[in-house]
Amino acid sequence: MNVLIIGSGGREHALAWKIKQSPILGRLHCIPGSAAIAELAACPPVKQEDHDGICGYCLAEKIDLVVVGPEAPLAKGLSDFLSAKGIKVFGPSRRGAMLEASKQFAKEFMDRNDIPTAGFTVLYSPVFAREKIRSAKEYPVVIKADGLAAGKGVRICRNEEEALAAVEDFMERRIFGAAGSKVVMEEFLTGREASIMALTDGESALLLPAARDHKRLLDGDAGPNTGGMGAVCPAEIPEADMEAVRTLVVRRFLDGIKRERIPFRGVIYAGLMFTPRGPRVLEFNVRFGDPETQAVMPALRSDLLPLLAACAGGSLEGRGLELEDGVCVSVVAAAAGYPDAPEKGRGITGLYAPAEGVHVFHAGTVKKDDAYETAGGRVLAVTARGRDVADARQKAYAALAGIKFDGMQYRKDIGL
Ligand code: AMP
Ligand code: GLY
Repeated sequence: MNVLIIGSGGREHALAWKIKQSPILGRLHCIPGSAAIAELAACPPVKQEDHDGICGYCLAEKIDLVVVGPEAPLAKGLSDFLSAKGIKVFGPSRRGAMLEASKQFAKEFMDRNDIPTAGFTVLYSPVFAREKIRSAKEYPVVIKADGLAAGKGVRICRNEEEALAAVEDFMERRIFGAAGSKVVMEEFLTGREASIMALTDGESALLLPAARDHKRLLDGDAGPNTGGMGAVCPAEIPEADMEAVRTLVVRRFLDGIKRERIPFRGVIYAGLMFTPRGPRVLEFNVRFGDPETQAVMPALRSDLLPLLAACAGGSLEGRGLELEDGVCVSVVAAAAGYPDAPEKGRGITGLYAPAEGVHVFHAGTVKKDDAYETAGGRVLAVTARGRDVADARQKAYAALAGIKFDGMQYRKDIGL
């Protein structure tokens, strides 16, 4: 089976690493890929935005399956476009991708389908938003830009002043462009968070082991929100909570997309808060999590490729998943200045063969004169598998200690 992955980050490097091990793989390709991914896959000079170019490449290279990593191409309809040409795609339709691309769409979908989530109001204009905020009885409230904002469009507002500032930033100053033309105001929830991903062919679903992401920049969950500074898999979740996720979230999601005729063959990611009143969905993503994937892939013993192909082909029913023993911990090494203004172009040393059970996934690197240098905010994700969290942490941090670049920063408490 010839496979094309779309994307270029740490998530796609981890997917490529996993798919590369499949005995049923023919050739592996990646658009646009990266220098690190090019060690595993052919990376042709085709742009991720060039849907015609991708389609032409699929036909020329006899691609049997396209696996889409990021949300942007899905929201732009890449899956619909390729499917219409008879190419099998792991990744939902444009309508399915609205579950991530529009918070309003996601919240209303959850409402219609009785999926537990925080109470909310959609604010269509700054005038209406201010009125609603002034009548809010309790703080904090959560204000979210409706559209895609690279994980930065969420503010926990502790008082009226902060809520009004969020409305001004999102709706009037448009710091996220059109993504802020509407906002959603949400009830503030408390509890433990986890990310649960399920592979689906639109009929049935297969849950991947739960993961926990660390979104804040600094130890002890301090500092600004980031794309994610590390992840652990499997995250320990009580069985009663998992059962609630299966019945109240995953089952109802499947019923919802069927009832509403939303084509969805790919992975649904539920960002969850386990509150005293049960699990609540904070957000849906329509793709693999990043950096969760870097912790989940090494935790899977099963071959992933037949499962992805079964999702794309509508034959997932009855398939299972075997896991490796132990726990995976993935720690992100970020550049100085991340998340606001990351420094780039710093040489990276120590990337020689890592120890057994340790994987170095590249998120933001390029190769210059045969040596890797930094090229993004999140630079590497170092994943280790251990007997337990303590063992995996020890291995991951030992591996990180050997890797160096100017200004490298990482959290010391991933997994704790
Ligand atoms: P999101 O991008 O929607 O997952 O939000 C980013 C982070 O904001 C989440 O991981 C939570 O920590 C926090 N958050 C989002 N929505 C809420 C909410 N309704 N109540 C409390 N915290 C929230
Ligand atoms: N780690 C959060 C995300 O992938 O959106």
